[in-house]
Amino acid sequence: MKRSQINAIIREGDAFIKKHHFYLPPFAHWTPDDWAKKGPEAAEIALNHLGWDVTDFGRGDYVSYGLSLFTIRNGSAENLKTARGKVYCEKLLLVGINQMNPLHFHWIKTEDIINRGGGTLMIQIYNSNEDEKLADTDVTVSLDGVQHTFPSGHIVALKPGESITLTTGIYHNFWAEGEKVLCGEVSLVNDDYTDNCFLETLERFSEIEEDEPPLHLLVGDYPKYYAYAK
Ligand SMILES: [Fe+2]
Repeated sequence: MKRSQINAIIREGDAFIKKHHFYLPPFAHWTPDDWAKKGPEAAEIALNHLGWDVTDFGRGDYVSYGLSLFTIRNGSAENLKTARGKVYCEKLLLVGINQMNPLHFHWIKTEDIINRGGGTLMIQIYNSNEDEKLADTDVTVSLDGVQHTFPSGHIVALKPGESITLTTGIYHNFWAEGEKVLCGEVSLVNDDYTDNCFLETLERFSEIEEDEPPLHLLVGDYPKYYAYAK
């Protein structure tokens, strides 16, 4: 992706979040220059991959097949191992109309996906089988504390305020209908580098062509701009 496209997506995403009266933490608006001046006190942000994340999954068609996210809080692998400290994660996902993302499941993370406002969030679900491919068995999920069983490949429609709990091994992808959706995610610690099983082979993070300076850093940019990111 070009940096100019990523900057435009972040600008638009930031305005969309504000429109829904949701407010981001201060580091959402730090510039690369701000990052260059930060000391080790801000390392948690970089090391736990908080902040902006924009991807087209390496396919070059962000509008039809992409996702932008903002990770508000997240723990670490160490927190998970010791079951102490931040064992949780909270994100926003900005989901465009008919903007698809790849079918995937998580080995470790259980997540609640929440429609926090906008259009209808459509989520397609399948169980995975022993080969980590799509199973044809019924899928049992909790929708806001109420258990439901659906046929394989069912599409759940979530209106604003509604949510689904996706336990480990449930394949899912999602898109918006009617209007863009401000989607929330509350989960166990998130690790996008190791805990996504995609049905198809693809890139979770896009290659970036630097045609202008970054407005704000993406999670993958920290090591380049911030001395304590490693
Ligand atoms: Fe997921």
